[in-house]
Amino acid sequence: MSAIDRYWREGFPHVEGWVHGGLLAYLKLVDQIQADAGIAGHGAEIGVFHGKFFIALASLLPPDGKMTALDVFDDQSKNIDGAGEGSLEKIKSNVAAYGRCDIDHVYIATDSTALTALDRVNLVRDRGPFRLFSVDGCHTVEHTLSDLRTAEDCLSSGGVIILDDFMHPHWPGVTQAASLFCAGVPRVAPFLYAHHKLFMVGVGWHAHFVDACRNTLAHHDSMKMTTMFHSKVVSIYP
Ligand SMILES: C[S@@+](CC[C@H](N)C(=O)[O-])C[C@H]1O[C@@H](n2cnc3c(N)ncnc32)[C@H](O)[C@@H]1O
Repeated sequence: MSAIDRYWREGFPHVEGWVHGGLLAYLKLVDQIQADAGIAGHGAEIGVFHGKFFIALASLLPPDGKMTALDVFDDQSKNIDGAGEGSLEKIKSNVAAYGRCDIDHVYIATDSTALTALDRVNLVRDRGPFRLFSVDGCHTVEHTLSDLRTAEDCLSSGGVIILDDFMHPHWPGVTQAASLFCAGVPRVAPFLYAHHKLFMVGVGWHAHFVDACRNTLAHHDSMKMTTMFHSKVVSIYP
């Protein structure tokens, strides 16, 4: 059994957080597309809470992989919209109980919007570049836009940003931020949407990822090809 299947069965139900169980198929699909194309890199998440999605990403890495968590953790005065209160103690105990012991984990306590250009360079040098980068921190427009820019700067070639709560009616700031981000000149474009997560990849890889997802999901009842921000997207709903 693969590490992610094992986690989904044995750990996922016990870790508190907001991750739809149906995402397993899409995480495995993206991982397979990257593996087939020889895309390498590490994993990161801004906004980890108790590690439900963080441990899932870790389970897709090879044994020499590195996972990096960025969260305000116990400094909740910086969590201005209360989108879950992160806890360093909780995530560490969940990683110990259900995570990987053969990869390197680092927990960076920071307000993600305070990261400077130099911090991003150091993050890539020390912990990246990243092939899986989840954005799930504070859900205001300003925070999400800033976090998308951080993720974009830190991706490996063929690396994927996974933006949480896109088009979620409780968190309109995320959708507005994605719209502003894509209205600029981003180096990434969306290719897959499922269970309120929007997956984006570098524009040079976009056609490859869209075709691979469309081919695999062609007979899926809930699949529709659509266009978001001028990019073709394989959209899964509900
Ligand atoms: C919705 S929760 C993340 C859920 C998590 N990804 C999961 O798998 O369940 C949002 C997280 O963002 C963190 N956060 C809030 N504001 C932040 C900020 N300014 N910088 C970094 N992290 C922040 C919170 O502490 C919380 O852990």
